[in-house]
Amino acid sequence: MMSEKTQLNIPRHIAIIMDGNGRWAKKRLHPRTDGHRAGADAVIRVTQAARDLGVEYLTLYAFSTENWKRPAEEVGALMSLLSHFLDSKLEKLINDGVRLKTIGRTGGLPEPVRSKLLNAVEKTRQNTAQTLVLALNYGGRAELTDAAGKIAADAAAGRLDPEKMDETVFRQYLYDPEIPDPDLMIRTSGELRLSNFLLWQLAYTELYVTDVLWPDFDRNDLVCAIEQFNRRDRRFGAINESSL
Ligand code: IPE
Ligand code: IPE
Ligand code: MG
Repeated sequence: MMSEKTQLNIPRHIAIIMDGNGRWAKKRLHPRTDGHRAGADAVIRVTQAARDLGVEYLTLYAFSTENWKRPAEEVGALMSLLSHFLDSKLEKLINDGVRLKTIGRTGGLPEPVRSKLLNAVEKTRQNTAQTLVLALNYGGRAELTDAAGKIAADAAAGRLDPEKMDETVFRQYLYDPEIPDPDLMIRTSGELRLSNFLLWQLAYTELYVTDVLWPDFDRNDLVCAIEQFNRRDRRFGAINESSL
């Protein structure tokens, strides 16, 4: 384990589109909610593996602004799973030194999920071993639209000089400007799309898509993704010295 850690260049921030819970359940002729339950176990497993490997920030896309389109029963099951997760894992998060953060229109989440989230964020605020960011009622377009609203309000109130707008200032209006951009974005279950995830932050993120369904994703899959990341040549629009 130690040698694996020292050999690998560990991304500081990994973001994951946890996809494929429904297909995982369907393959077993189980209801979709069973897939979500197994997906919640994968959250624990992968968070732990990421921490062991030294990943500082892990962002998990758990519920999108578009996921409200699903049947009320499925949305309800996802919300109670989240509520159960917060009840049963808060102590573990605290003991493991995990700081929980959220991004998204969390004000639009139902009670008691909303207050349990606020409580978990508050109770883990001082933790430093790892930051776990849950994207909940999150949409990249919603985030940029919310930023535009706050910018317009600040400009109208004279708190912001439109002449001063640049990428550094803009970033301050995102849900959590402290979180660095992801270095690596993983999507499970093979879909080649962003599904409205982190539209601003993924500008120069390395993308990795695996056919593995989220409930099956484990430490080994995470290491494979990081190994692949290590072989990428991140140029950020420039050219390499070797190309000069
Ligand atoms: C991801 O799994 C979980 C959420 C979107 C909440 P899905 O529920 O999207 O699973 P598939 O894509 O239908 O297999
Ligand atoms: C993306 O998965 C959202 C989450 C993982 C929370 P979806 O399953 O909702 O995405 P689409 O519908 O396949 O694009
Ligand atoms: Mg899906």
